[in-house]
Amino acid sequence: MEKLQAALAKARSDRSAPRGAGGGLKVRVPRPVRPGPTGQDALWQGLPAMRLSDRALAKHRIVTREASDDSTPFDIMRTKILLQMQQNGWSRLAVTSPMPQSGKTTTACNLALGLGRQNGLRAMLFDFDLNDPSVHAFFEQTPDHTIGEVLSQDVDFADQALRIGDNVAVSMSNRVEDDPTRILLSEKTEDVLDSIQDRYKPDIMIFDLPSVLVGDNTRAFLKNVDCALIIARANTTRYAQFDTCEREIAEHTNVLGVVLNAFRHGAAQNDFE
Ligand SMILES: Nc1ncnc2c1ncn2[C@@H]1O[C@H](COP(=O)(O)OP(=O)(O)OP(=O)(O)O)[C@@H](O)[C@H]1O
Ligand SMILES: [Mg+2]
Repeated sequence: MEKLQAALAKARSDRSAPRGAGGGLKVRVPRPVRPGPTGQDALWQGLPAMRLSDRALAKHRIVTREASDDSTPFDIMRTKILLQMQQNGWSRLAVTSPMPQSGKTTTACNLALGLGRQNGLRAMLFDFDLNDPSVHAFFEQTPDHTIGEVLSQDVDFADQALRIGDNVAVSMSNRVEDDPTRILLSEKTEDVLDSIQDRYKPDIMIFDLPSVLVGDNTRAFLKNVDCALIIARANTTRYAQFDTCEREIAEHTNVLGVVLNAFRHGAAQNDFE
């Protein structure tokens, strides 16, 4: 009888023992979890990927996705810009022009995709031409939210920007903002840009801006950048316009350089007069 009670007590205690503590139960060992990306890697990979069509890129003269004869002038420009900005410790570049239709957006998009081919470097492109945004049209995208919503902190950058490859983020709008000058002058805009830069740590932030001589928006924003690239268009931009534009920019930021767009080799010397 005593033996029987001892056997029952042992069986009870075996039943109440935790799973895996013996008694022939199989122990399921969790598989080691492969560590996911952390920090900036996770933030960048968290941005939704943009699907680019070769047809759209070709149509809008974006030629820097792959290295080619066509990409070479942009690649040289990219390298010069990077070197100069790194030497000066600059990270924010405005792309502007004296007058519209000079090639600002074409240049900014080509620069961004060319930078994307530089491994280990991260670039951001912002369409800050808030009166007439066009980067979305160049990439043929319909973003769910506008840059204005990011700058007013109604939408997080992570839910607005799209990623090209691993290392290029593009923030673009397909709607005109109601009051661009107020947005561009606002301290909140400064704070939001600082916070995006702090979190994502891009090597370079490119801002596609309106033309200088058509309104106040570019002047209003230039305090937020380290330097500006001026795009002049051969046969279209007059030297006097360029001169005024350069002086105005120099009052607010550093003039990094000038691109003479659409210049044909062998063209008459008075193409840019
Ligand atoms: N080097 C070039 N050769 C031929 N066409 C060009 C060249 N650069 C730009 N274009 C074309 O000129 C037009 C204006 O270019 P883009 O939109 O880049 O200029 P923009 O300065 O950004 O204009 P906006 O002031 O309207 O923003 C576009 O149709 C573009 O494809
Ligand atoms: Mg443009």
